[in-house]
Amino acid sequence: MADGSRRESWASRLGFILAAAGSAVGLGNIWRFPYIVGENGGALFILIYLIIVVLIGYPLMVTETAIGRSSKRNPVGAFKALAPNSMWWLAGALGVITGFVILSYYSVVGGWTLSYIFRAAAGAFEGVDHEQLFGDHVGQTWAPLIWHLVFMALTIGIIAAGVVKGIQRWVQILWPVMGLLIVLLIVRAVTLEGAGEGIGFLFLGAEDATVTGRTFLDAIAQAFFTLSLGMGVFITYGSYLSDRDNVPGAAASVVGMDTGIAILAGLVIFPAVFAFDGDPGAGAGLAFITLPGVFAEMPLGGLFGTLFFLLLAVAALTSAISLLEVVTAWLIDQKGWTRAKAAATLGVIIAIVGIPSSLSFGAWSGFEVPNIGNLFDLFDWIANSIFLPLGGLLTAIFAGWIWSTRSTMDEANKGERGLKIGGWYAVVLKYVIPIAIAVVMVFGIVDTFV
Ligand code: PFF
Repeated sequence: MADGSRRESWASRLGFILAAAGSAVGLGNIWRFPYIVGENGGALFILIYLIIVVLIGYPLMVTETAIGRSSKRNPVGAFKALAPNSMWWLAGALGVITGFVILSYYSVVGGWTLSYIFRAAAGAFEGVDHEQLFGDHVGQTWAPLIWHLVFMALTIGIIAAGVVKGIQRWVQILWPVMGLLIVLLIVRAVTLEGAGEGIGFLFLGAEDATVTGRTFLDAIAQAFFTLSLGMGVFITYGSYLSDRDNVPGAAASVVGMDTGIAILAGLVIFPAVFAFDGDPGAGAGLAFITLPGVFAEMPLGGLFGTLFFLLLAVAALTSAISLLEVVTAWLIDQKGWTRAKAAATLGVIIAIVGIPSSLSFGAWSGFEVPNIGNLFDLFDWIANSIFLPLGGLLTAIFAGWIWSTRSTMDEANKGERGLKIGGWYAVVLKYVIPIAIAVVMVFGIVDTFV
């Protein structure tokens, strides 16, 4: 059943922007961006990343949204509606599968953030070895699994409630909370003694930073992940838009908010890390190992630690709901399931698929893929470095060459107010994006394994 007539719409113009920006802003900005920047040496990597965001990210966001609004379908249904009797629906299916994979491990990290809120509040960061604290927590079998289930249950609850009563209502509540928390944290971080060095790292970079094919692949993977691109979130959220909504303007707001929050998160983390002699290249543990060490030494650190992990959890939740919405919309549209049944069934299956990721830090940590890491890293690498860029590549080829740049632009510009998609877009969509993604993927993959 592909019944578009009962499809919900956002209840206000802001609904789409807040939900889409809520999807974009998440662990990718506050947890992943700082540690990827740290691993890649700071400012120069940020510059490459920003170029990719503007040149590839923004046009693709507009494209996905236009595909969604035009077809009023989930990603699989959207490609079926716009290119009937072809294999293009497989591009949508790749998106649904990617959402499934990402949510499975995203929820594991979401669970860590929930448990760290309580640890911070209980003063558990004082007088301990933070690497060991983190290792001991994620290395257990049951506690992280239970937090993963709690996080998934929250996600299911919001999605089961619907587009307006679930997604829109909750992002409208959670955005002001995030805004307030991040402002409080920045004021604290930049006023620490020695904060200047961290700010310098962010805006000027490390002296020994090097650029390789892997740097570009890391930057593209980060751009896709943080903007929620390449897997149909914007097709799905765009399908709840009306023709009066301004797609070019909304996408610009979302890209601006996402990039802004990533830089702001850097302004919280790097000053704090440098002020307390942490290692900016600490990797995935940066937010969970280095920062608790910082909070332990900082005046009122327990309070700021609690606020930080609360921010992380809220941001993660508004992203996780978009991942679950993509797969839920697919079951509702294509198979006629009710929303509550689809959300709950998929949520439970995804939670089960997430178990190996959770165990990969403990019971199953012996399993390692050369050059990639444990099972968790493998899921993350396949989803972010392969599936998302591939999804973006297919979307650009589809819109540029099959659906046509004319139809894409006409759809995108309906309801436009001021900011209009111009002729540059056709060239970017047909040539720049496919070639850039393909080249970066080939060199990046070679660089990763050779
Ligand atoms: N953009 C989210 C973040 O930065 O944490 C993660 C994400 C959400 C990725 C939705 C992909 C996606 F489709």
